[in-house]
Amino acid sequence: MRTTDAVWIAPGEPQEIQSDLVSRFQQEYGRAASGTWFAPGRANLNGEHIDFHAGRCLPMALSHGTYVAAAPRTDGRLRLRTLDASLDDGVTTVNPDQIGPEATPEEAHWSHYVSGVLWALRELGRSQPTFAVDEGFGADLLVVSTLPIGGGLSSSAALECASILAFLALGTPFGQDNPLQDLNAALTRENRRDLAAACVRAEVEVVGAGTGGLDQTAAMRARPGKVLSLDCRDFSVTPLDIGCILRGYRLIAVDTGEAHRLADGQFGDRRADAEAAARLLGFDRLRDALPERPRKADVSHVLEEFDRLAEQLETLQGRSIDACRRRLRHALTEMVRSEKLHHLLSGEAYGVRHIASTVGGILTAGHMSMRDDAEVSFDVADLVVETALAQGAEGARLIGGGFGGSVLVLITPAAIPKLTVALERISRGIRLLDVAPSSAAQAL
Ligand code: GLA
Repeated sequence: MRTTDAVWIAPGEPQEIQSDLVSRFQQEYGRAASGTWFAPGRANLNGEHIDFHAGRCLPMALSHGTYVAAAPRTDGRLRLRTLDASLDDGVTTVNPDQIGPEATPEEAHWSHYVSGVLWALRELGRSQPTFAVDEGFGADLLVVSTLPIGGGLSSSAALECASILAFLALGTPFGQDNPLQDLNAALTRENRRDLAAACVRAEVEVVGAGTGGLDQTAAMRARPGKVLSLDCRDFSVTPLDIGCILRGYRLIAVDTGEAHRLADGQFGDRRADAEAAARLLGFDRLRDALPERPRKADVSHVLEEFDRLAEQLETLQGRSIDACRRRLRHALTEMVRSEKLHHLLSGEAYGVRHIASTVGGILTAGHMSMRDDAEVSFDVADLVVETALAQGAEGARLIGGGFGGSVLVLITPAAIPKLTVALERISRGIRLLDVAPSSAAQAL
């Protein structure tokens, strides 16, 4: 069987990547980097498009991620460059008066994720003095990533989280008290939670993207070997062992090669449909429409209630009632799938003999819902799912925001060579990443 290594994106050897980045930093800025920080990308078992409805999400960190080498400045400026060929346009300088929600230029640029994070850390420092950013603090940064950009694996959150750790280390009392790698041990769970929340503020308030916090939580709070069961009602996390799924199986992310970054408008549109449905039902957060341990029948009850309330209406705040109903059905069924997985992985479903096929069935049902109800899938993703199932995968689904991005596949190692050959026939742009649940953001 012919199978090429070229289709795999390797996570690389962190020490090699770091030492290469540090020497490139020296060439670029003519001075030494003070340190390097890393944050991972993420894949989700379930829980798409429900973080902003307070649903449960099940992310895990990849070993692929984003590395930031940095050194401080005292003139308040940021100078930034990325080594990613698709984004690199040389060194970008951000002046202090260009940092913050009002000050950020309208035209989209990757540097806004980084300058947004510096603004958000300053804001956090107002209530937590240990995070207060020094007066006049700025930095030179060089960025490299082993994640496909726009691949639906949260390259943006990885950039935010690696950058916020760099700023924390170089520009705050917390960093002065805990130099370099000491930072990792010093960061408490609460600290990580607050830093993730600051990254969310950067993305929502500065970049203007409608993130619900799933990605930043995964990057900042993931645990090796675990899937995080993230309850978005209060952002509490329960790390769950994933070993029971992976015994005899592998999870792989198939990057379709179709980047999703141009579709922010559609993402917001889908979210707005579901929010309109929530308002009609009288809920601020859709999760509250279901009981603590929801089942399929609960979804039917809510949909009946929706139909009753919508009966006399032509539109829902100008939106199509059918479309809002489909978004509602996606959100509710996705919530039920998440709860089911949570209980399965918590060991409560003791006696489920074929756990991989149960999980696989949930993955595939999630894809159908993304395709038919959320309507965020696209041809290549549907074809990848079909192909994976035809090659014997237990399950497969589109992950992330959709309109481009990656498909998660649960499959036996023995079936992977045939799958890679079949996938190469779909598109030359397809790449595979091994999903081995890894560590959260850290100083290297
Ligand atoms: C994007 C957003 C997340 C989440 C996912 C879909 O990645 O940033 O908050 O909504 O899409 O699950």
